[in-house]
Amino acid sequence: MKIIKSIKEMQKWSDKIHKTGKTIGFVPTMGYFHKGHLSLMENAKKNCDFVIISIFVNPTQFVAGEDYEAYPRDIKKDTELAQKAGVDIIFLPSVQGMYPDKYSTYVNVQGNLTSALCGKFRPGHFKGVTTIVAKLFNIVKPDKAYFGQKDAQQCVVIKRMVKDLNFDLDVVVLPTYREKNGLALSSRNVYLSEEEKNKASILYKVLKYAKAKIKSGEQNANKIISEMKRKIIAVENNAKIDYISIVDPETLEDIKIINKNVLIALAVKIGKARLIDNITVKIPPLWKRGVGEIS
Ligand code: PAJ
Repeated sequence: MKIIKSIKEMQKWSDKIHKTGKTIGFVPTMGYFHKGHLSLMENAKKNCDFVIISIFVNPTQFVAGEDYEAYPRDIKKDTELAQKAGVDIIFLPSVQGMYPDKYSTYVNVQGNLTSALCGKFRPGHFKGVTTIVAKLFNIVKPDKAYFGQKDAQQCVVIKRMVKDLNFDLDVVVLPTYREKNGLALSSRNVYLSEEEKNKASILYKVLKYAKAKIKSGEQNANKIISEMKRKIIAVENNAKIDYISIVDPETLEDIKIINKNVLIALAVKIGKARLIDNITVKIPPLWKRGVGEIS
């Protein structure tokens, strides 16, 4: 496994790989690996000739007052885990390399995709994400880029950017990797005590509860959201709910009456961690649900 820090060298390696006709699978990360990250790398390994990952804690996607400085980092352990997962190259750029003096170019997906959900609470966050991901795509030149469904809004925003800017690659989205109790793995879970981790498992429980309610015919989104909030507060009185939203999985517009596929997404602060999670619910077409069958 190779570790490359220079942007120019990374670009040369990618060109070299492409010249041999081999494919590149790319997993962009901010490091501090858990099994969620590793599942993306393992999938890339199965489906591409070369796996390149990047580790870069990207300052432009942290909003003022967030945990940029404190964000957990452990390059030594990450390197070992990446090697075990079969990664071929780790791209490890510096902040100065990615954002040199006089840096002034940003990629911004406009509108509801970036102003809804987390966008409301982290203004400018997605602009930082799309900027760094676009730069990484230009440096690594992947055939396939892998992202986790845990960050559902990030996936929708990146897919939009890829389409709008004609990046010649496939975006692959893989399922959320969870603890046994359902808590979605996240680098930020290190901010939680064991007790808080147990309490935080309520987030996936209420998502599953909401899915079951919808499957059993409940269509009133507000009613479901109120119940979810009540259940979270019952377990953790100090939880700060940024949002629980039921939205269209593609436009991220709020849905009031649930009669088509939805994404249920939430962001909740428990202890020192801001946790996000989501679940999708597929609604069969009306005729399959028996509605409209009256002759
Ligand atoms: P990071 O939080 O390190 O996540 C890297 C990738 O791992 C993302 O695609 C994320 O969705 C995925 N991931 C995180 N937790 C997961 C889990 N429990 N199961 C499956 N996949 C999971 O997301 C970022 O970094 C950054 O915003 C980045 C895209 C690298 C841009 O800086």
